[in-house]
Amino acid sequence: MSKAQTPDNLPEFPEQGERLAPHHKNAATLELLARRRSTAAAAMTEPGPSPEEIDTLLSIAQRVPDHGKMAPWRFILFQGEERANFGQILAKIWSSENETDDKRMELELNRFTRAPLVIGVISHVLEKHAIPEWEQILSAGAACQNLLIGAQAMGYASQWLTEWYAYHPFAKDALGLRSGERVAGFIFIGSTEDQPVERIRPEAGIGVWKG
Ligand SMILES: Cc1cc2nc3c(=O)[nH]c(=O)nc-3n(C[C@H](O)[C@H](O)[C@H](O)COP(=O)(O)O)c2cc1C
Repeated sequence: MSKAQTPDNLPEFPEQGERLAPHHKNAATLELLARRRSTAAAAMTEPGPSPEEIDTLLSIAQRVPDHGKMAPWRFILFQGEERANFGQILAKIWSSENETDDKRMELELNRFTRAPLVIGVISHVLEKHAIPEWEQILSAGAACQNLLIGAQAMGYASQWLTEWYAYHPFAKDALGLRSGERVAGFIFIGSTEDQPVERIRPEAGIGVWKG
C-alpha cells in the first residue's frame, strides 16, 4: 500500500534501505505485552478487520526475525462464506472417522465461522538448508505472535488455535499443504464484548549462568 493510501490509524511501512529507529520506546506497547490475553474464538463477532487492516496485519506478520531471509511461512485467509465451506470439509472428515452427534457436527461446521477472519499461518521449511529447520519453524511462530499482537493493537480480539484439523492429513490436503509445510497456527481475529480473565502463570525456569 502506498503512503498516500495509508489510513491515519494504520502504520506506514518503511522502504527498503530506509534508516529506522533502533528502539520504539512506547508505554502502550509495554502495557499491551504485559496485559495481553487471548479471547476464545467462540466469543468473537463481526466486525473483523477491514481490507486495509488485513493488508497491514499481513505486512506486520512478515516483519519477524528470519534467519537467512527465507520467508519460511505463508498465509491462508479465511473470510466470508469460505469459512463455512471449510467447516463443511472439517465436518465431513470428522464424521467419516468418529461417532458423532448433532452437537459435534454443529461445532465442526462452525469452526471457522466463530470469527470474521481466520489467518492460517503455514510454516514452509526448506530441508537440508544451511539455516536449521528449527529456526525456520520458530520464525513461523513469530509470525503468529505478530498477528496476535498486531490485531489487538488494532482493536480486535485474537486467538491462536491449532485444534485437531491442523494435524489431520485430509484437512492438510484441503488446505493445499505441500512438502515441508505444516500449520503453525490459525489466528482467529474479531470483535468482542468479552473480557478475558488473567490466568494462572506457571513459573518459568529462569537461571543466571555462572561459569
Ligand atoms: C501453537 C499453539 C497452538 C494452540 N492451539 C490451541 C488449541 O488448539 N486450543 C486451545 O484451546 N488453545 C490453543 N492454544 C493456546 C491459546 O492460543 C492461548 O495461548 C492459551 O489459551 C493461553 O491464553 P493467553 O494467550 O491469553 O495467554 C495454542 C497455542 C499455541 C502457541
